[in-house]
Amino acid sequence: MLPMCQNYMTQKNELYFQFLSLPVNIAFARSTVAAFAVQIEEFTEAEYNEIRKAVSEAVSNCVQHGYPNSTGMINISVFIENDLLTIVIEDQGAGIENIELAKRTEFTTRPGENLGWGFNFMEACMDEIEIESVVGKGTKLTMKKRPQNKDARPT
Ligand SMILES: Nc1ncnc2c1ncn2[C@@H]1O[C@H](COP(=O)(O)OP(=O)(O)OP(=O)(O)O)[C@@H](O)[C@H]1O
Ligand SMILES: [Mg+2]
Repeated sequence: MLPMCQNYMTQKNELYFQFLSLPVNIAFARSTVAAFAVQIEEFTEAEYNEIRKAVSEAVSNCVQHGYPNSTGMINISVFIENDLLTIVIEDQGAGIENIELAKRTEFTTRPGENLGWGFNFMEACMDEIEIESVVGKGTKLTMKKRPQNKDARPT
């Protein structure tokens, strides 16, 4: 039998996976991260949906902008430490020329096809997002989230 957790502290845990930048893998990535995040039991259903939405937007960006004319690898690492969920999504694709501009509402390099809302959605869904990118080398996005209602612990 597994030892019982007495104080509801979530055990430290890590998940690593990688997949090809195919649109069909966006839903796979979103569901996989959310399935792992359930270990933080204090997240509400609404918060799990926010996590799914943020991962969808981030992976869509890797597919559409990171590897616009090719198929490349996307790496996702997920860390659980106490009640903090950290998601790192990386591609080795085109990179972002101007990160500040890319984060602006309605800025897109694909006008007509995209609306430029992705990073805004990610910011709204998560507590913190950080973008690191080098043109021609790739993009690393780190997103963090904690349950808002810390008192909603299981009894
Ligand atoms: N992984 C990435 N690699 C290269 N460029 C990226 C990446 N992610 C974002 N970008 C750049 O940042 C811009 C803004 O991204 P954002 O997700 O906010 O909007 P969008 O993808 O253009 O539109 P939407 O998300 O609304 O469909 C993109 O248009 C693109 O130029
Ligand atoms: Mg986008």
